[in-house]
Amino acid sequence: MAILELKGISKIYGNLAALQSIDLQVQKGEWLAIMGPSGSGKTTMMNIIGCMDRPTNGSVFLDGWDISKATAKGLTRIRRDKIGLIFQQFHLVQYLSALENVMVAQYYHSIPDEAEAMTALERVGLADRAKHLPRQLSGGEQQRVCIARALINYPELILADEPTGNLDEANEHTVIDIFKQLHHDGSTIIVVTHDPEVAEDAERTVVLEHGHIARITENRMKGVMV
Ligand SMILES: Nc1ncnc2c1ncn2[C@@H]1O[C@H](COP(=O)(O)OP(=O)(O)OP(=O)(O)O)[C@@H](O)[C@H]1O
Ligand SMILES: [Mg+2]
Repeated sequence: MAILELKGISKIYGNLAALQSIDLQVQKGEWLAIMGPSGSGKTTMMNIIGCMDRPTNGSVFLDGWDISKATAKGLTRIRRDKIGLIFQQFHLVQYLSALENVMVAQYYHSIPDEAEAMTALERVGLADRAKHLPRQLSGGEQQRVCIARALINYPELILADEPTGNLDEANEHTVIDIFKQLHHDGSTIIVVTHDPEVAEDAERTVVLEHGHIARITENRMKGVMV
């Protein structure tokens, strides 16, 4: 079953078409990578899928709902209920601890529950860093807090835009391993990356060029836990 379907999506800025006639289906439980040169439209596409922006033309179906027609309030609700977002710049609140940063996300979804936030940190291997402030954490640890924050409401769709862009190789592998586990547990994951090593673990790679889908490659044996 398709969890996400883009039909004829365009995004026009003045005389620049950041996206043009994008058609794409993503199946439930699939792990998809999006690659392409800088400026090819990757973040624009993720912002539309993540309910942070609207297409100029076309429809976006998430779980069968046409989100391109949702109101601003509706978009916020869909984002809160169905989507987990992970960014290259971690966007952590600097004066809150790791645990509190995760609890801020809970506040948007439900009632803050410290034990549940702690479980989310445990899932990314950070239980022993719960009281640390972001500046007391390494880049990789900060990104894992962001992943815990994104996972707090068990989102149907996990969107990550360059999640390893600011990480060294060891931390990159830690993050990829968490994605492997999430995929194994049934999450649908879309990850934008410049790094072929990150894309390699996805089941399919969509390559964008100048706002078009240039090609889609299948990695048949990938995305599987070994
Ligand atoms: N708000 C905006 N107003 C005008 N142009 C924009 C806006 N957002 C993006 N663009 C343009 O749309 C194009 C696609 O941008 P986008 O951020 O999607 O690229 P990207 O593939 O994510 O690049 P990168 O790999 O550098 O992150 C670029 O040419 C960019 O300058
Ligand atoms: Mg981008």
